[in-house]
Amino acid sequence: MALTVRPGIMEIAAYVGGESSVPGIARPVKLSSNENPLGPSPKAMAAFRAAASDLHRYPDGGAEQLRAGIAGRFGLDAARIVCGNGSDELIALLTRAYAGPGDEVLYSRHGFLMYHISALGAGARPLSAPEQNLCCDVKALLALVTPATRIVFLGNPNNPTGSYLSAAALGELRRRLPAEVLLVLDAAYAEFVEAADYDPGRALVQASDNTVMLRTFSKIYGLAGLRLGWAYCPPGVADVLHRLRGPFNTSAPAQAAALAALEDREHEAKSRAHNRIWRDWLASELIALGYRVHPSVGNFLLVEFDNADLADAFLKSRGLIMRKMGAYGLGNCLRITIGSEAEMRATAAALAEFAEAPPTAMMR
Ligand SMILES: Cc1ncc(COP(=O)(O)O)c(C=O)c1O
Repeated sequence: MALTVRPGIMEIAAYVGGESSVPGIARPVKLSSNENPLGPSPKAMAAFRAAASDLHRYPDGGAEQLRAGIAGRFGLDAARIVCGNGSDELIALLTRAYAGPGDEVLYSRHGFLMYHISALGAGARPLSAPEQNLCCDVKALLALVTPATRIVFLGNPNNPTGSYLSAAALGELRRRLPAEVLLVLDAAYAEFVEAADYDPGRALVQASDNTVMLRTFSKIYGLAGLRLGWAYCPPGVADVLHRLRGPFNTSAPAQAAALAALEDREHEAKSRAHNRIWRDWLASELIALGYRVHPSVGNFLLVEFDNADLADAFLKSRGLIMRKMGAYGLGNCLRITIGSEAEMRATAAALAEFAEAPPTAMMR
């Protein structure tokens, strides 16, 4: 007898992470996964190394110290924080907890792929709303809400578009969503955003029992390899996540490194400033070369090409790896992570050459 897989799962196109190698190029530049080019805080690395002598011990399953550290750093209630094996795990747990067969999970057209994947994984129906200028359109999202809608996911700022909704627009969205719909504000890139009208969602979570904010240590804190994300939840949702999560879903070295990373405010500020300087520099260089660059408040830029595959191949031939966007319905774009100064200068130089070079020359 053949095994039976639950409905929805075979519809999933497995998530493909950013590429990290190019045949024939010994040390390519990886700008495909929105990682921090400055690396983790030296304090986080020291905490990680110090945790090595206790690897025979199970981690603190409740991540008490880390949750207290997060609460202290961001002025939150530790009891409402739930840690996860990356925010990816929390997206999946929330979906499993609140949506299933017959339910709908809603997100914006170019929203982060894991919303779609998690909905299918839970047997629910993923639905996406059209966007305006690659930005979430609250009206269009609300128009798709039905009695079957269980969750609305919003990347804010969104990956891969780089756009965001203001605190006022978020408040409006929450007010107009039915109370029985969970709103998940995925603020993976929050620490990079310097816009005055932006808010990752703390107040909304605190003021309602149906809104969750997701954060991660993978981006500005440079700990993507350790897998540590966290959710700020209404008490009822925190309780649900604790029941559903694995008992030791975050590792001890990850907890230790994340706590130390939080305390290194200098490294965080340096990472934010570096990102702002080189994101804005690269955007203006590419615009001057004639490329269409979408405005971004994150640590990446979405750039349009006449032929993104050719551009990708050309950049790879120069040892530069970007993220192709076909899976997001943006086949004419590449997403470029903000890297080191040298990497950004190399990217601008290669794209200047590409703008000049005829396609046949590119394929050599
Ligand atoms: C919008 C968004 N949410 C969540 C994640 C997942 O991050 P994590 O590494 O915490 O699983 C990413 C990662 O790229 C992201 O871009």
